[in-house]
Amino acid sequence: MLTPPLLITAGPTFEDIDDVRFLGNRSSGRLGLALARAAAHRGWETTLALGPVFAPPKVPSSVRLLRFRSTADLQRLLDEHWPRHNSLVMAAAIADYRPANTHIGKLRRDDAGLTLKLEPTPDLLAACSQAKRPDQYVVGFALEPADRLLESAQAKLIRKGLDAIVANPLETMDADEITAVVLRTGENPIHIEELSKDAFAERLLSLLSITDSQRSPAGRG
Ligand code: CTP
Repeated sequence: MLTPPLLITAGPTFEDIDDVRFLGNRSSGRLGLALARAAAHRGWETTLALGPVFAPPKVPSSVRLLRFRSTADLQRLLDEHWPRHNSLVMAAAIADYRPANTHIGKLRRDDAGLTLKLEPTPDLLAACSQAKRPDQYVVGFALEPADRLLESAQAKLIRKGLDAIVANPLETMDADEITAVVLRTGENPIHIEELSKDAFAERLLSLLSITDSQRSPAGRG
């Protein structure tokens, strides 16, 4: 069950190619921010590890804000801060690959072209899950094609040893409203249709901080 202190990761990672260029992604970090606001509103001790988002974040003063740029930075933050939290919500869009070598200085244009060698990044979520104590709770995210959403997310839940996973259909990427299936180990899947990020954050925290057996029959689903 999700309990405070809560650690949330959000936003993209930037992986440097040289001193001026990087590989990034389009994550805005807005859902992670909404989760941090909702948790703070409940009076939960909350830490938000936020990647290099372009819009300056409005974070409640009670939320402890940590910043990262690359997967390696986030890995160091998690090593330091995960043991001191009870729950982790891994909403960050972490790169799956990064340049195998970062060029010092600026790569020059060459008519022969340029081939970048990429290496896989470590799976930080799986590592946090493997290192977790019995009293800790880990929630992952998965962006999956709609036609394989449930089976892919279920496989990821088991493979990474998570307590819960939030699966979003690839087709709704960048949408203002969130559609998701929340899978929890040993509990029924919950389908959530087109909620704003703020409403979704509230719903997710409520859902994960109570078990099905504690829910009244009328409140199920
Ligand atoms: N994640 C992570 N470390 C990575 C990549 C992803 O911790 N190097 C986390 C994300 O924060 C997210 C979850 O893993 O919570 C799922 O990310 P996703 O990219 O959907 O899954 P992958 O494990 O990369 O699997 P695949 O690319 O095969 O779908």
